Amino acid sequence: MYNIAIFASGNGSNAQRISEYFIENENVHIALILSNNPNAFVLERAKNLKIPSFVFSSKELKETDRVLNKLKEFNINFIVLAGFLLMIPKNIITAFPEKIINIHPALLPKYGGKGMYGDIVHEAVIAAGEAESGISIHYVNEHYDEGNIIFQAKCNIEKNDSPKSLAEKVHQLEYRFFSEIIEKLLIV
Ligand code: GRF
Repeated sequence: MYNIAIFASGNGSNAQRISEYFIENENVHIALILSNNPNAFVLERAKNLKIPSFVFSSKELKETDRVLNKLKEFNINFIVLAGFLLMIPKNIITAFPEKIINIHPALLPKYGGKGMYGDIVHEAVIAAGEAESGISIHYVNEHYDEGNIIFQAKCNIEKNDSPKSLAEKVHQLEYRFFSEIIEKLLIV
């Protein structure tokens, strides 16, 4: 039985899709949604999905075991970061070796690292004149966006694409592939 925790800092549309994907799965349970942002819309989504949620501060994440203890309390054995903006600290990485994955809205190793999130990523990709972008699903280690890549999918960038239209294309890839990849990782 997998008890998954999803970390998200904002809207949470990926968190919602993943939760819905596994809703009737007997082996995979979305057990907890966590956020560092008390105003994140993902918390509203958690409530509607009837999934317990937990809010913590960035200081608590970095300097205490409060988040780790919550993960233990819910018997979490796999963690998904879906639009989570803070670094996962060592205590959690050590407790979940190769059990934490993240989705990044570009083709790593390009356009990753600290500060590269949301529209900033799409703006940088377009400014560089790239012909394609996409998604990268990767393991999480102690460096932003540097863990081994598990899966990538690409989309074309047209001349008239804006950061907003590119974000939409990337979101479609995320919705199409993220839950499936999680399922595959758990089965293997
Ligand atoms: C996604 O594009 C994800 O790749 C990135 O942040 C965005 C989160 O979107 N890390 P949402 O909160 O799931 O709607």
